[in-house]
Amino acid sequence: MDKIVNNICNVVVDSTYESFGRVVYEFNNKQNCVDSDFNINNIYDKVLIITDKNVYNAQLHKFIDKINVTSIYEYVVEVGEASKTIDIYEQIIKYCITINLTRKSLIIALGGGVVGDLAGFIAATYMRGIDVIQIPTSLLAQVDSSVGGKCGINIGNLKNIIGAFYQPKISYINVNALKTLPEEEFISGMAEVIKYGFIYDNQLLNYLIENSKQILNRESEYLLYIIKRSVSIKADIVEQDEKEGGLRKILNFGHTFAHGVEKLCGISHGYAVSIGMNMAFKLSLKENLISQEYYNKFLKVCELYRLPLKFELHNSESNTEFIANEVLNIMKSDKKNSFGNMNLILPIDIQKVEEINTIEESKILNIIKECHNA
Ligand SMILES: NC(=O)c1ccc[n+]([C@@H]2O[C@H](COP(=O)([O-])OP(=O)(O)OC[C@H]3O[C@@H](n4cnc5c(N)ncnc54)[C@H](O)[C@@H]3O)[C@@H](O)[C@H]2O)c1
Repeated sequence: MDKIVNNICNVVVDSTYESFGRVVYEFNNKQNCVDSDFNINNIYDKVLIITDKNVYNAQLHKFIDKINVTSIYEYVVEVGEASKTIDIYEQIIKYCITINLTRKSLIIALGGGVVGDLAGFIAATYMRGIDVIQIPTSLLAQVDSSVGGKCGINIGNLKNIIGAFYQPKISYINVNALKTLPEEEFISGMAEVIKYGFIYDNQLLNYLIENSKQILNRESEYLLYIIKRSVSIKADIVEQDEKEGGLRKILNFGHTFAHGVEKLCGISHGYAVSIGMNMAFKLSLKENLISQEYYNKFLKVCELYRLPLKFELHNSESNTEFIANEVLNIMKSDKKNSFGNMNLILPIDIQKVEEINTIEESKILNIIKECHNA
């Protein structure tokens, strides 16, 4: 078991759910407890686990069997983004009231980023905030969404338009939970791991290139390394800039482009991020900010992990010009923009990216066109 702890984030990376009770104790400042005290009932009056149907089937009992709690409740939502709505939010809040969840109760988010964002937001707002523990079960959630405190829900097409920065008591990561994750979801999560390499850690990137076979086979030792490293990077960045005033923006590398592609094509977040990073790389190359050799390294790592570089959208009535403009319009509406400028995070050197908002729209449009698989 490894702990990554700083002034903002408490993360534990483990390979089972075995030590969960002890970890909850420790993080509630009860370091001196004896073994028999690892009983969450002494800390929380009730525990509500929020999960989705897939995770309910694949992971819930593996987890529940390992914890010692008497008043435990479960709320299972449908799979996917459609559960991050105000209706589901209201239904769960009403359920919290029905079971009489109090300020001494705990919410556990057991699942991918959807469950994490939804359950985190419920915990942040129910009775003005009760404790939440994130137990991420998708790769994306383990390396990204469960750490850093962002949570929220969507309104219509507007993603995460209502939300909060609300730090979980702990993010408890069991790397072997990934063994039941569908292949496409695993690959999608790898895009975020690769992102950390380009924004912060060239050594991680080399590790990903050298050990792709073992990582793709989900060998525990290799998963432990890449997840620990990714989480450390995220926690480090969040500690320096919790509310995204500056440094934290580098985590959005590839994401402004991805936002446009994801919304238009309905592909997974990680696939869109990989296409978005490709667009950012191409733009940097055109602007002479990076070398061809560095771009080739990006292409190589994407090939190893079978990540896409171009998006497909076939619509008999619309051509590449039209589609690229659609992507651009969505990018312009990104809530991360400010003062009418599109803020792009672009690679400028090895393990270094920078926010740039001076690139002409026509150049951005050309890059989007180049990445449309017509
Ligand atoms: N809060 C943040 O900082 C942050 C950052 C990035 C993304 N997000 C959000 O995260 C969400 C995407 O997260 P995601 O990619 O994890 O999607 P997801 O939560 O929909 O999970 C992906 C799929 O994998 C399944 N699954 C998860 N763990 C499993 C397991 N161990 N075994 C079997 N199946 C499993 C889920 O049921 C789902 O079908 C989006 O809503 C996005 O906005 C939030």
